[in-house]
Amino acid sequence: MPVQCYENVSKDVKKIIKIDTENTSYVIGVIDDEQFLGHIYYGAYLNDYHLAYALRIQENPFVPSQNNGERLSFLDSFSMEYPAHGLGDFREDCISIEMPNGSTGLSFSFVSLNILEEKPRLSGLPSTFGDKGECTCVEIVCEDVHTGLKVVLLYTAFEKADVITRSVRIVNAGKAPLYLTRVLSACLDMDDKEFEVLSLHGSWARERQIKRMPVGYGRYSVESLRGESSHQEHPFMALLTKGTNQEYGEVYAMHFVYSGNFKALVEKDQFDQIRMVMGIHPEDFKWKLESGCEFQAPEVVLVYSGEGLGKMTRAFHDFYRNHLIQGTYRDKERPVLINNWEATYFDFDKEKLIQIAKEAAQSGIEMLVMDDGWFGNRFDDKRALGDWYVNEEKLPGGLKALADEVNGLGMKLGIWFEPEMISPDSDLYRAHPDWAIAIPGREGSLCRNQYVLDLTQREVVDYVYGRISQILHSANIEYVKWDMNRQLSDIGSAYLPADQTGEIYHRYMLAVYELQERMLKEFPYLLLENCSGGGARFDPGMLYYSPQIWCSDDTDAIERLKIQEGTALIYPLSTMGAHVSACPNHTVGRSTPLETRGHVALAGTFGYELDVTKLSEKEKEMISLQIAVYHKYNELVRCGDYYRIASYCENHFYDCYGVVSKDKTEALYTFVQVLGRPNHRSRRIYLKGLAPEKKYRIEGEEEINTGDVLMKAGYLVQNMWGDFRSRLIHLTEV
Ligand code: DGJ
Repeated sequence: MPVQCYENVSKDVKKIIKIDTENTSYVIGVIDDEQFLGHIYYGAYLNDYHLAYALRIQENPFVPSQNNGERLSFLDSFSMEYPAHGLGDFREDCISIEMPNGSTGLSFSFVSLNILEEKPRLSGLPSTFGDKGECTCVEIVCEDVHTGLKVVLLYTAFEKADVITRSVRIVNAGKAPLYLTRVLSACLDMDDKEFEVLSLHGSWARERQIKRMPVGYGRYSVESLRGESSHQEHPFMALLTKGTNQEYGEVYAMHFVYSGNFKALVEKDQFDQIRMVMGIHPEDFKWKLESGCEFQAPEVVLVYSGEGLGKMTRAFHDFYRNHLIQGTYRDKERPVLINNWEATYFDFDKEKLIQIAKEAAQSGIEMLVMDDGWFGNRFDDKRALGDWYVNEEKLPGGLKALADEVNGLGMKLGIWFEPEMISPDSDLYRAHPDWAIAIPGREGSLCRNQYVLDLTQREVVDYVYGRISQILHSANIEYVKWDMNRQLSDIGSAYLPADQTGEIYHRYMLAVYELQERMLKEFPYLLLENCSGGGARFDPGMLYYSPQIWCSDDTDAIERLKIQEGTALIYPLSTMGAHVSACPNHTVGRSTPLETRGHVALAGTFGYELDVTKLSEKEKEMISLQIAVYHKYNELVRCGDYYRIASYCENHFYDCYGVVSKDKTEALYTFVQVLGRPNHRSRRIYLKGLAPEKKYRIEGEEEINTGDVLMKAGYLVQNMWGDFRSRLIHLTEV
């Protein structure tokens, strides 16, 4: 049984709750007469539950029932499962409130537990799921007797996936309304093991770059207060034992299934104890909870690996492929698409699009995606967001005529939307100036000349949905790129009362989730790709709705190596929107061979972002070849196990990663020689993930080698002439 509860383990330890997956264990204890919920252990699987000693309750300062004179010292050092604010645990806590009398302190005692065979959906939020038999849940209810506030901690053990998820529901069972001023979703208390912290950082066009540093005393956090998970920081944090690499070392990782403001923090205290927490950012958060009402906080995914980062990566990949991503396209090859953004920007009409589509169809491209600029008066980025009516000047006959013609070429049609926004120069804004998020009476801060719609207003959400639905019904549209090009600021509402302003960020996210949920329910065949000025909303929350997300506006093959390495650290390759674009690259001005651009984009959902009508015959031939290669290897890339072999970010010369089929009969490694080296012989790379006893032949070569040889003695990649060269190395079992 993956969840076990052991009663009266010792005088002070009333209960031990042990949650197991195949290779990990998570242990919680209920102690003292006050029934504190303590964290005992998370890590490699344990075959016994006798580890109450790890709570150190016999060490000074004892539990409060025996030494209440030192209660504060107890709270200041005890490993809490869900630490509360204000009564003596001075570390980063998970929950705080504001009562009508102004007080903020809380203390929770265990009340009950309930084991569930099916995982409940989290109301209004994206969350992971599993069929009966794939996961087991335990709900632990704790109460603050003083206020009547209850926390319901939900743990789910996905046994085969080796993943535990956590979330928290807060119930106001008291008589008075109160305000929640902080509700984090997960906490992990541990002894320090000379940890390093790994997090992902970046900016627009430089998303998710891997950074590592030692954990020192004090607090280190990554966070977003931008109303989206952001280009800058990612809702992910991992603690690694010193020297952890792809194969060795312990990793404790947390990833947040949420797309709005977040905080992930690690703290090292006076006793060399570590606390790692994750949840909705408490700043600008204040939620009014009436008596009898509930607040559901989003889910955190926990992965422990005792075999380095590689194992962590593969656990996340499998978990997200099987227990987070949904819909028709989850397990299907995605159509090769051509997007007109970098080909035309706003300067297009139906004729131009059809020219592109005709040429693209001949090369084997399967879908045309019409990007920004097809609606209202949208000739540039200064206007028209909100006016979701087709611009017939550009598209005579509307979307239907375009779709019919594109379909006639044997291609699908996809379109771009940015439904959450409103331009001040739009009919919508002129009619409803109070529909934009703004501080009443203060002029709002523009970004890309636009405001954000106040999706906390029901009328606004329904209006936006009505437009989406009408547009999607108007023609055979089979794909939507849902974009979001500015961050939230100027938080205020013409709709919510003043004491609920602190709810805007979270209510906004709930409305975005609702819109996408409604859209997919009404149009279940749609392929949805989320996007936010590139990859600012590449997060597990959005992945619940869209099986792929645009990785970055930076389509340069070399910059993409770094962005895709950081993204693939957690996300399956099937989720990473990756396109081949023109050279010199529009973001960095670099020219790379078309072959390399193709090889790098093959690591994601494959597509093009250039004007095919301007390519030479030779380039068009190369595109047809690339598409054939995409079809040949896509199942392997989409479903296989990912191995990182060398990182250009670390060695500054070359990059190499591979995908191995689950049965280990086939593998594809991508090698990119970023910088050519004069007078250099072949480079030996040590392949990973193969079966040692199996014999493999490399496509195009005669020799047969065992997996053992290829992994231990390596494979020689010949030096290629010039910078930015690449090779695919494809192996099959013989
Ligand atoms: C930002 C996206 O990332 C781009 O791909 C493109 O869709 C533009 N927005 C359009 O405004």
